[in-house]
Amino acid sequence: MQTLRLSNISTDIRRAASLLRAGEVVAIPTETVYGLAANALDEVAVAKIFAAKGRPADNPLIVHVLSPEDATPLIRPGVVDKLTALSAFIPGPLTVILPKDNKVPSIVSGGLDTIAIRIPAHSVARALLHETGIPLAAPSANRSGSPSPTCMRHVLDDMDGRIAAVLDGGECAVGVESTVLSLCGEVPELLRPGAVTLEQLREVLGEVHVAQAVLSPLREGQAVTSPGMKYKHYAPKTRVVLLRGGSEAFAAWCNTRDCMALCFAEDAQYLRVPCFCYGSSGDYDSQARLLFDGLRTLDESGFAPLIAAHAPDVIGVGLAVYNRLLRAAGFELVEL
Ligand code: TXA
Ligand code: MG
Repeated sequence: MQTLRLSNISTDIRRAASLLRAGEVVAIPTETVYGLAANALDEVAVAKIFAAKGRPADNPLIVHVLSPEDATPLIRPGVVDKLTALSAFIPGPLTVILPKDNKVPSIVSGGLDTIAIRIPAHSVARALLHETGIPLAAPSANRSGSPSPTCMRHVLDDMDGRIAAVLDGGECAVGVESTVLSLCGEVPELLRPGAVTLEQLREVLGEVHVAQAVLSPLREGQAVTSPGMKYKHYAPKTRVVLLRGGSEAFAAWCNTRDCMALCFAEDAQYLRVPCFCYGSSGDYDSQARLLFDGLRTLDESGFAPLIAAHAPDVIGVGLAVYNRLLRAAGFELVEL
């Protein structure tokens, strides 16, 4: 199949909308990462997403809508108040898990009786939702297991020839996937950290649990609240090791090995290996924005058989960056 390249002008957005209405898969920009969208109420269309990604059938998709009102028919009657209570973060990089309505095909929810709802802020995503008038199921637009795409080139690297079209919306402002919060239990539970931080959620909701899988590997056979936690994620082909410590110790570790560094601005003066700087050590927004481009760029360069990644602090958006790097590194963490 030939993948159409579409821009964000209105005629192209209309073209993307008509492809989606016809049951095709279109990659779309959001403020977090690019998504692989299809009509969430059309099982055949949703099956094409799983095929294009090579995604396991039990890993459910996020459904994107314009507003809490548009989410109402997709969730169990009476629960929309839980969504509106989070209006401080909506629209934005937040996904909320709620009990689902029966009309949502079970292929979307991976057989679960819950549904992930996201109300994106990106103007192109919103224009497209407006134009199609349908809820859009969309996982990140990477091949299953690879780092998520944060620009059109990343999408084409993974999906060219596998989907009907890609809609260019420039570089994603956030760069890591949305925060995933489950509101199905008694206490809200953070399943995946993102740009809406744990600290911000606790300010609004009070107590918020952090799923164990956010910071540690799952034990064999352990039950998970979010199926995506089971799978290897965000991993380039090159082996990644995560290192925690100061700039000089990080550089000293790297300089004695055949490696490339995903580093902080402060590290560069000490490093004598190829490096990609993803922000200064306290700039978690920059680290999030550049993380996946850094992993992909180092991977493609082929300069060395190992990527040494300098770990951020686990506060604010740093928790999201750290969570992705832990998975990219298969939980291989070195304390310096
Ligand atoms: O920022 C994002 O969230 C992007 C953009 C495109 O919106 N999407 C994204 O989708 O990252 P995906 O499929 O790559 O990640 C969705 C995560 C997976 O870990 C999945 O298991 C989890 O959300 N998830 C989806 N539905 C769920 C449900 N009903 N219960 C628990 N976890 C769910
Ligand atoms: Mg993904």
